[in-house]
Amino acid sequence: MSRTDFSYVESVSPGSGRRNPRAALASDAAALSLDGEWRFRLGAGLHDTTEGFEAPGFDTGSWDTLAVPSMWQMHDLDGEAPYGKPQYTNTVYPFPVDPPRVPDANPTGEYRRTFTLPADWPATGRTLLRFEGVDSAFAVWVNGILLGDGKGSRLPTEFDATAHLKPGENTVAVRVHQWSAASYLEDQDMWWLSGIFRPVALVHRPENGVEDVFAHADYDHATGLGTLKVEAAEGARVTVAELGIDIAAGETADVPVEPWTAETPRLYDAVVATATERVSLRIGFRTVKIEDGLLKVNGKRILLRGVNRHEWDPDNGRTLSVETMRRDLEIMKRHNVNAVRTSHYPPDRRFLDLCDEIGVWVVDECDLETHGFVHHGWRKNPSDEPMWREAYLDRMARMVERDKNHASVIIWSLGNESHTGQNLAAMSEWAKQRDPGRPIHYEGDWDSGYVDVYSRMYADHNETDRIGHKTEDPTKDPALDEHRRNIPFVLCEYAHAMGNGPGGMSEYQRLFEQHERCQGGFIWEWIDHGVRRHTEDGREWFAYGGDFDEPLHDGNFVVDGLIFPNREPSPGLVEFKKVIEPVRLTVHPGARAITVANLRDFADTGDLAFTWAVEDGGEQELHGDLEVRSIAAGESAIVEFPAAVAGLGLPKGERWLTVRAVLAKDEPWAEAGHEIAWGQAQLSSAAAPEPIGSGTAPVAEGRGYRLGNAAFDALGRLTAIGGLEIEGPRLDLWRAPTDNDLLSWHAPLANQWKDRNAALYRLEHKVLDIESTADGLTVATRVGAAGAEIAMGAVYRWKLAEGRLWLTVEVNPEGQWDFPLPRLGVRASVPKGLNDVEWFGGGPGEAYADTRAAARVGRYRSTVAGMQTPYVFPQENGSRIDVRWASLSGEGKSLKVFGAPHFAFTVRPWTSEDLEAANHQTDLVEHDRLYVNLDADLHGMGSAACGPGVLPQHRLLPKATAFTLGFEATA
Ligand code: GAL
Repeated sequence: MSRTDFSYVESVSPGSGRRNPRAALASDAAALSLDGEWRFRLGAGLHDTTEGFEAPGFDTGSWDTLAVPSMWQMHDLDGEAPYGKPQYTNTVYPFPVDPPRVPDANPTGEYRRTFTLPADWPATGRTLLRFEGVDSAFAVWVNGILLGDGKGSRLPTEFDATAHLKPGENTVAVRVHQWSAASYLEDQDMWWLSGIFRPVALVHRPENGVEDVFAHADYDHATGLGTLKVEAAEGARVTVAELGIDIAAGETADVPVEPWTAETPRLYDAVVATATERVSLRIGFRTVKIEDGLLKVNGKRILLRGVNRHEWDPDNGRTLSVETMRRDLEIMKRHNVNAVRTSHYPPDRRFLDLCDEIGVWVVDECDLETHGFVHHGWRKNPSDEPMWREAYLDRMARMVERDKNHASVIIWSLGNESHTGQNLAAMSEWAKQRDPGRPIHYEGDWDSGYVDVYSRMYADHNETDRIGHKTEDPTKDPALDEHRRNIPFVLCEYAHAMGNGPGGMSEYQRLFEQHERCQGGFIWEWIDHGVRRHTEDGREWFAYGGDFDEPLHDGNFVVDGLIFPNREPSPGLVEFKKVIEPVRLTVHPGARAITVANLRDFADTGDLAFTWAVEDGGEQELHGDLEVRSIAAGESAIVEFPAAVAGLGLPKGERWLTVRAVLAKDEPWAEAGHEIAWGQAQLSSAAAPEPIGSGTAPVAEGRGYRLGNAAFDALGRLTAIGGLEIEGPRLDLWRAPTDNDLLSWHAPLANQWKDRNAALYRLEHKVLDIESTADGLTVATRVGAAGAEIAMGAVYRWKLAEGRLWLTVEVNPEGQWDFPLPRLGVRASVPKGLNDVEWFGGGPGEAYADTRAAARVGRYRSTVAGMQTPYVFPQENGSRIDVRWASLSGEGKSLKVFGAPHFAFTVRPWTSEDLEAANHQTDLVEHDRLYVNLDADLHGMGSAACGPGVLPQHRLLPKATAFTLGFEATA
């Protein structure tokens, strides 16, 4: 036997021996899944492979077994990690840049299994071996005979095995290489993982069967007619029983239909059949067009409320179960998301079936990114090198052919961050000719010469506004300016959801609603790609770049999603849900009316029920159903307040009216009653508590002071109220930096905060004066860091009024403070045990200056644990805003804090410093105290980790301020 030829590994050729790409079809032809346990051996490189492993007689007795599909580095990471570990880089290639060569250290997996060809397997026709996804290059043998090789990790490959199969037992052998020439095309910001990670099957192709199908199902909104034309094998018949269609392939039928949209995902079951094969299709009638400079579906401008979705499972990497795919879509739909960009590769094909069924707009993105060349001035970038042209065209064809029958796919995307070049232009040209029914997207070429949509990522609000006004900077090539100025605009990535945030989503949404041309965008990104791990004592944590001792990595930049790795929604997703509500409910207390605006593009509000509730001080007084007639898409209605509201007596506290829109009946993605939108307004205010009247004089006690039941030490620091031991409250400006504070294209804020002349994380408190008066105790201090000249003057005025202890803090910046503050407030600590938290104010989740749309006023209960947001990379979290009062209680003790009128607060079993020092949740160790921040103001979150920082109106600029808090405690 000759030595194996490995030249394909470093060849730019997309593969050999492969069948032409075709649609993913549900056929009644015979099929045999080859998923399951395979024999497996991992070699260190091409020098460490098993000669002759493909031979039927080869003995794999000593080999391991490995599940197909799976990614070999994801195995037993808490244990031996027998097949290597994940490695994360964002843009930089984890190997020397020398295309198309890759390192000798090239982990190579050898897979083998036998299977029995079923006795009734057809004797005629052809039998193909179909791989849905293998990362990154592979060669395949059946019964010892080489069928061919392939690349394109997230694309299907089929080989013809007919000639080499025999009745009974057969052997299939696959050799998979982690690195190949194709790795240069697959530099998508994610974990580098390998293997046969999507299903494998043997599929029969009957003679004269339905080899391929291209169903064109258009919808004419003017006539209400659907037009169906199916390209398929000659002689094939196309039937759609529900529509009475029975035509030959190639013929056209015009019939009245209900159109498909993401809001109304109406599908019709169709059959394409020849004498030997029946293929089932689910057809959605819709027409996508760029018209009047807008992206229109069925004649209407659509607004994309989207997310970028990578495929991720914390245990299995990019091998996802159908349940997980469905779960993603359910969570999306429950949070008002209506669009997915399949960043940055075509997803498992079953995901698109679900998108058709559940209803989301899909931008199907090709498996392509060459971002690493940016670090070398884009020299040798494959996008513009003729030798890579075939590989580019091959990838585009395999995506388009596979996915062309999906109603949900409305746009083809050429790939991501691969700069510009003739190979991209060629992909676009080919796709337009093959499928004139879908526009082309690609972000990497801002001049937009070969695309139909002007796409950008992370453009800030100002630039987005200018693009909306069509006053953006001209294209580099003047000849392209007119084209670009007249195509729709999308932000294919914006609002980077890394850690706490992203801030500023509401302001983007306003621009999308204001400018027709700005048709929305896709949040970066859907899910944190954290890898689930466990400590030795069994506590769960999630790993990110560097946690597997990778020599080269990009840290936690891989955890930047709207859902945590375990698919729990983060506060960012809850905020996004509110920002993109498809129905807007505005309560007008003066006019005693509610505006219900239907912001959808197609569907009326007939699927929704509306409810209302009045609360007084957070306690429900009245509630009922709100009669709202069905409102057409884009229309609004004004509804009067429910009559019962007029009959309410005088409120005890603040009275609020909240209206909600909920699902009237079960949907495939949520049950009846699921909330879609809400609005609220204050009907009557209550006087905020305040320290009125004259106070009491403190009395000396030991070396300190006593004011009513409050005790102070010799430095005028509060030590107890009503027997409850308290440390502080003292001025505190620090927050554990968020990802958005730490990273920035400009100067990270955290650097300014930690600069030696600020050092907000180590402020010292110097008492200047303590004054006892008839009205209370006044303590003047200067708060500044060692080495720093700038400081805050902080004067604490303690007063006992109406049995409650009041504190007014007057803060005065001294010196040159030329940056925003993280927070402005006080920090206190109390003994552990006050575990029950209750408050009246914004909730239920965390909120900051620019992430507060989802906070609604009400009365909430939680626990100290429940007040924490478990960001994979620990950072500031958990603040509740607009709080009127909050209480902590437990073990017979309590502390209640009152705002005058409002404050923000956090409570945690560790300090801000602990949060900053921790790298993972499991690093956080509870103290025997609880740390409470009571804040007058908070800086926003922004999105600077990738994109704009905090907008001016949400910055917390240092200035003279005073705020007041009231305290009651029992012990
Ligand atoms: C974009 C890129 C994404 C991701 C993001 C940052 O430039 O397209 O793949 O890397 O930045 O998280």
